[in-house]
Amino acid sequence: MKNTLIAPSVLAADFANLQRDIEMINASEADWFHIDIMDGVFVPNISFGMPVLEAITKHAKKTIDVHLMIVDPDRYIKTFADLGATILTVHYEACTHLHRTLQAIKAEGMQAGVALNPHTNIALLEDVIQDIDLVCIMSVNPGFGGQSFIENTYKKVQKLKELIVQKGATTLIEIDGGVTNKNAVQLVEAGADVLVAGSYVFKAQNPTETIADLKNLTKN
Ligand code: DX5
Ligand code: ZN
Repeated sequence: MKNTLIAPSVLAADFANLQRDIEMINASEADWFHIDIMDGVFVPNISFGMPVLEAITKHAKKTIDVHLMIVDPDRYIKTFADLGATILTVHYEACTHLHRTLQAIKAEGMQAGVALNPHTNIALLEDVIQDIDLVCIMSVNPGFGGQSFIENTYKKVQKLKELIVQKGATTLIEIDGGVTNKNAVQLVEAGADVLVAGSYVFKAQNPTETIADLKNLTKN
């Protein structure tokens, strides 16, 4: 039986009740905390930075999956390691020397992730896939929660899965953006290992149950 990992995105939490929402995730069937860091340059939005992440990691009891939507992420690798990131994901489009960046992330004791914008082709990862612990396929254009899922994502997941198998890599496939109970099963069937869900979880009447439903739905 496949155990799909569920990663609620804290971007959709109630920031005035952040500790409550973190405790909710701690007590739920969620596997990871997904943390979106946006700089207003790589994406047209600013989310939150280091002091807020520090406050989150103080209470969070699960894997900290940090998604950097920032230019020149190399500047902050050590900072995020010190703040307790388990996985640090950088954008393909923001890295001129991606291979070097991945090694630098691992040298700080974190797992290395690469996120791809919706227009970025999977084939571009062919020569580096064995060095990547996680590929985050963006199923919306990064920058905002609550957007609708881009249908072309299924094909990208299949293509990435084929590449991983062909290269004998152990890379996990994460999907980020517009994930709901309507697309979760098809994504897992296509090869997804981790589903990020922001609005779908936090705008639900019962977020804990919604996480449990996603978890059950994707056990196949
Ligand atoms: C988008 C972020 C996502 C976002 C997902 O730029 O990377 O992680 O929080 O939110 P939903 O699930 O609402 O699309
Ligand atoms: Zn994200």
